[in-house]
Amino acid sequence: MNISFSLNGRDIGLSANPMERLSDLLRDRLGVHSLMVDCGSGACGKCVVLLDQEAVPSCLVPAFRIRSRSVMTYEGFVETQAYALVIEHFLKSGVELCGFCDAATILAAGSLILKAQAILERESGRLGLGSGGQTETSEISEREIVETMSSVYCRCTPPRLTLDAAKSAVATVLGKGRGRAAR
Ligand code: FES
Ligand code: FES
Repeated sequence: MNISFSLNGRDIGLSANPMERLSDLLRDRLGVHSLMVDCGSGACGKCVVLLDQEAVPSCLVPAFRIRSRSVMTYEGFVETQAYALVIEHFLKSGVELCGFCDAATILAAGSLILKAQAILERESGRLGLGSGGQTETSEISEREIVETMSSVYCRCTPPRLTLDAAKSAVATVLGKGRGRAAR
């Protein structure tokens, strides 16, 4: 089948087996070198990419599911402001990644920051329309942060450190954004 999607902001069109794994498609056909594939079964998280800004294990995503959607890999994420925030908070929390699954770990944290930024955008849109502040989507739960960060099984870094970094990054983004809006 013909599949069109966006990869790191670039329009891609190709012919693929609908059940071809996104991880294979990205690595073998589109030359995405940052992507690691280990377990191939959704357990290790090394193949995480962002699908419409959500961290997903690309080895479990069949090609037909990415039609008309947006895929971001580490190569695209490093160009974002969210990347700088992840690195800043990883450093502050003492995270030292060895390089084996750093792309996936950074993308997992990045998905939370992108979500926090999207929440702020929605809130400022609503405030602009005069319909008032926060809604049921205005927070990112601790459980969601824990689940997202634990989706990558990184052996070199204590999970507590990456979790702390992700929590503080999300809190910083939401806190700063709302502080500005309140002024
Ligand atoms: S290779 Fe995809 S989760 Fe392990
Ligand atoms: S970055 Fe070292 S094992 Fe994950």
